[in-house]
Amino acid sequence: MKLLIDRERLLTEIETLAGYSDAEAPAVTRIVFTATDLKARAWIISRFEESGLEIRQDAIGNIFARWVGSDSRAPAVGTGSHIDAIPNAGKYDGVVGVLGGLEAIRALRRGGFRPKSSIELVVFTSEEPTRFGVGCLGSRLLSGTLSPEKANTFSDGDGHSVDEVRRGAGFSGELCDVKLPGNYYRAFVELHIEQGPLLERQSVRLGIVSRIAAPASLRIVVEGSGGHAGGVLMPDRKDALCAASEIILAIENAARDTGEVDTVATVGVCEVFPGAVNSIPSRVNLAADIRDTSLARRDEVMQTIERALRTVAERRQVSVQCQLLNADAPADCASKVIEALAESCRELEFPYLSMVSRAYHDSLFMSRIAPAGMLFIPCHKGYSHRPDEYASPADIARGALVLAHTLAKLSG
Ligand code: GLV
Ligand code: MN
Ligand code: MN
Repeated sequence: MKLLIDRERLLTEIETLAGYSDAEAPAVTRIVFTATDLKARAWIISRFEESGLEIRQDAIGNIFARWVGSDSRAPAVGTGSHIDAIPNAGKYDGVVGVLGGLEAIRALRRGGFRPKSSIELVVFTSEEPTRFGVGCLGSRLLSGTLSPEKANTFSDGDGHSVDEVRRGAGFSGELCDVKLPGNYYRAFVELHIEQGPLLERQSVRLGIVSRIAAPASLRIVVEGSGGHAGGVLMPDRKDALCAASEIILAIENAARDTGEVDTVATVGVCEVFPGAVNSIPSRVNLAADIRDTSLARRDEVMQTIERALRTVAERRQVSVQCQLLNADAPADCASKVIEALAESCRELEFPYLSMVSRAYHDSLFMSRIAPAGMLFIPCHKGYSHRPDEYASPADIARGALVLAHTLAKLSG
């Protein structure tokens, strides 16, 4: 089957979607259920409709666009990713999997392919944790990894619960209906930028993912004692920021000390109160993200961090509260999907690398309910979650082409 990717159209669509942003170009900020996100969703649904796909949205706002196969009752083959973007991000994270998936479907249609199993393109809600503190809200709920009750304990920075926010955005169904029935997908495959430097460094243009690392997230509140920056003598201080600084370094060291490339830890949020130059910090809020491809190793790191929190609290006489938001297990990609991807690469004579994903993705949760796999394309210097994130037109088109062949194999 000769399939052709309409590269110009795909690139134009990526640029158009990047225009739906709350940051100045080239940065993209598209937080879930903001007015900008809702406009982007409407635009993308219009693209899906134009391509003749059947649209359905669930109560958390996951969008399903289906190309109905000749055996319409058979489990579908899923593909897709997310279009929400963290503050000051780039235009390719998630988007390549959604618009690349759309173009793969269009290429299959143009090539005269008729799927036996339906092919379903999914836009997952809130892959990014920006608004509710936990990533992959949509795929967690539809895979049944997260219960609606637990989802409703999450709130945004203004104190609005997931339920309030999604209803306000027009998604009024019941969250308990989001979970998909068993055997809904016969396979799921996600195209994504690598978000790391390995493909580029090794001059290989495609990566087939074998394992997806999983995150654990902590919210840590350090409370000390505030006061006058001149008046309070050093021996009397309980400076929350100084304690938090030790905690931040302890978290970094806990990951470094494993000596393993797959263990990573980041403190990405540090809010200081009251935040005045002449006032001793009385409270600090931290958010930490700890990941690994090995669950046992990540759990050891978590224990090391817990011990460090206790030590710092005791020594500095501050209170340290730690809330575990999520601690997910890593996933192996399914051999069925890996083989379909590898066979497509071989047929097209594209070399590929087998690699792990150190970023998490909706596929982590899709792997709980279906054989799942991922295809990576390089991004310049591995930059991601920053405005200069870049994937080349040739790489994007190549990824979409391999995806199209893989979807054909899985649904044929
Ligand atoms: C996803 O955006 C991640 O943080 O890995
Ligand atoms: Mn991301
Ligand atoms: Mn992503």
